[in-house]
Amino acid sequence: MKKVLVIYYTQTGQLSSAVKATLEPLQNDPEFEIHFEEIIPKVKYPYPWKYVEFFDIFPETVMAIPCELEPISFNPTINYDLIVIAYQPWFLSICVPINSFLQSKAAQNIVNGKPVITIIACRNMWLMAQEKMKKSLIEKNATLVGNITFVDKSANLISLITVLAFLLGGVKKRLWGVFPKYGVKEIDLKKAPSYGDIISKNMKTKNLSTLQQQLNEAHAVTIKPNLMIMEGRGKILFPIYANYISKKGTAGSKDRRIRVIIFGIFLPTAILILSPIITLLSRLAPLIFAKKIKKEIDYFSHNTLR
Ligand SMILES: Cc1cc2nc3c(=O)[nH]c(=O)nc-3n(C[C@H](O)[C@H](O)[C@H](O)COP(=O)(O)O)c2cc1C
Repeated sequence: MKKVLVIYYTQTGQLSSAVKATLEPLQNDPEFEIHFEEIIPKVKYPYPWKYVEFFDIFPETVMAIPCELEPISFNPTINYDLIVIAYQPWFLSICVPINSFLQSKAAQNIVNGKPVITIIACRNMWLMAQEKMKKSLIEKNATLVGNITFVDKSANLISLITVLAFLLGGVKKRLWGVFPKYGVKEIDLKKAPSYGDIISKNMKTKNLSTLQQQLNEAHAVTIKPNLMIMEGRGKILFPIYANYISKKGTAGSKDRRIRVIIFGIFLPTAILILSPIITLLSRLAPLIFAKKIKKEIDYFSHNTLR
């Protein structure tokens, strides 16, 4: 019997659908016993978000400041064979609830010396959050053996509009009947059980060393050069601006409201302006820096940390 612990957080259910679809083969297999542990913040984050609330969570997310969580229900003395951590990136960082769990004593104990698989379901930018995840797992003596991602495959500017309508306006259908529905599509969820089959097969042979390679071959991870370049810019600028906002006050404080609002205008505007330029550059980059781009994509498709 192989024991699997799945740690996850979800607001609207997108991530839990991806997790359940991926782990379906393990759930239907008597050789596996799965415990699903939903991470629940003591003060729940709103859905839909109000504009200021949404951008106000930016500094704490980027600076990895934890929130209080409801008590966990799994038995911390069980010796799990595999830990799955399923999370969303928020502002190119690990979302606050999962980050708060990662900072707890329970997380430290449960992942110590264990293989970990991450499952991410998001808009399309997860690379920098996953770098933070890699670092956090190394610090806890855990081994990241696999990463599976589900993204909204629409063009970046389209999903920028639909994600804002989804998160701030609660629009779950096609916006104005024109834009595509936000999020991970059914067709991508249909592929999810094949990733679970790969996990199951590798767990049974007790060899997880080539798991990521096999997941990559099954297209569990896709990386677009334009998004990789954009995330690289964000990685440099976000901590500076997070620090600038938090200097004025703590989460929700009126004193930092103006700086939060400026950020709330600046960020979507910057993406709107930069996205077409970077997309153009990224089309040229593989022609000029073919080797470098290939090397970067290869790096982000694997689980080592540089
Ligand atoms: C505060 C916040 C920040 C977000 N930042 C990102 C991001 O940096 N990259 C990304 O791809 N998606 C981002 N998203 C979208 C989420 O990854 C995810 O698609 C959305 O929250 C729905 O997931 P859920 O249904 O599992 O809660 C963000 C969402 C929120 C609420």
